[in-house]
Amino acid sequence: MFQQTCIAPVNIAVIKYWGKRDEELILPINDSLSMTLSTDQMCAKTTASASSNFKENVMWLNGEKVAFDENPRSARCLKEIKRIASAKGQPKFPLNLKLHICSENNFPTAAGLASSAAGYACLVYTLACLYGVEDEELTQIARQGSGSACRSLDGGFVHWKKGDNPNGSDSLAHQVISPSSWSNMRVLILVVNDSKKKTSSTKGMRLCVETSELINHRAEKIVPQRIENITKAIKTKNFTDFAEITMKDSNQFHAIALDTFPPCIYMNDVSHSIAEFVHRYNELAGETKVAYTFDAGPNACLYLEEENVAGVVAGLKLAFPNDNAGNVEYVKGIPINGQSYEAY
Ligand code: DP6
Repeated sequence: MFQQTCIAPVNIAVIKYWGKRDEELILPINDSLSMTLSTDQMCAKTTASASSNFKENVMWLNGEKVAFDENPRSARCLKEIKRIASAKGQPKFPLNLKLHICSENNFPTAAGLASSAAGYACLVYTLACLYGVEDEELTQIARQGSGSACRSLDGGFVHWKKGDNPNGSDSLAHQVISPSSWSNMRVLILVVNDSKKKTSSTKGMRLCVETSELINHRAEKIVPQRIENITKAIKTKNFTDFAEITMKDSNQFHAIALDTFPPCIYMNDVSHSIAEFVHRYNELAGETKVAYTFDAGPNACLYLEEENVAGVVAGLKLAFPNDNAGNVEYVKGIPINGQSYEAY
């Protein structure tokens, strides 16, 4: 039996990916940019085994059997890895051996906490290690599992360029700065609700591309400038500019989600109260100390620097005591990731 285990981190976008121009190859309509989180507290862990005793490819996700060959995304990732392994010649074992794959997230799955990003990044990297092709350009393959997954294959801040080629060969993710360049950057995850989201990102963005009159304006006229400006803010560690762009982009993403018909509503009242808290906190502090961003769910991710964690957490605990149902359940201070993925 041949076996490989890997872990991969979550990434949280500050410029959101929302909308595809090619559903099959998962090619986005706009660039996006994210920070990769440390694997200590939030990560996916995957073990893949190949054996001549296995009759079919089987996958378990958090202990539950899920489709593998029947899922076009996982099937495509495996096909691509095998294609590279075969092109390189002398594969480590016969490519027709069937696989058993176990994957687990140590955080709520499909609750808008980037579980598919960590999950597919981990699957692709584990398969790449298993088949001995880990030195290849894997972001292209991870992207075909779940778009945001391509950003979890690198640490620090990562930019996924939408690319122009119809075959997706230039739709790749690359590191903007290494984690050590902004080592005091932290993320607080505020779990407002850990149940599975009503409208998946995939479905929500498809509907948004089909029905929103604002989405193309965002993709063409707003995002390119934002990417340029936030890259500059990140490279110069200008937290004020970074925070403003991050919050504006989160707000705009939710505005276009709302412009979908029927609307996609991801934030709830608690989410809006958290956004209000952040603006008030910054106002009272007289400077920008913290920024929020919300993905396709009600949970909040707050970006801030290490020296402000204690003050912000104290304020949050006062404003959102954990003993009330529907309020924020827990807060975690997660550092920027020093390493993008690990293989055992
Ligand atoms: C709101 O990568 O989960 O988190 O490509 O269809 O799998 P698919 O979508 P997915 O979408 C993530 C959307 C987002 C924003 C982001 O991470 O950039």
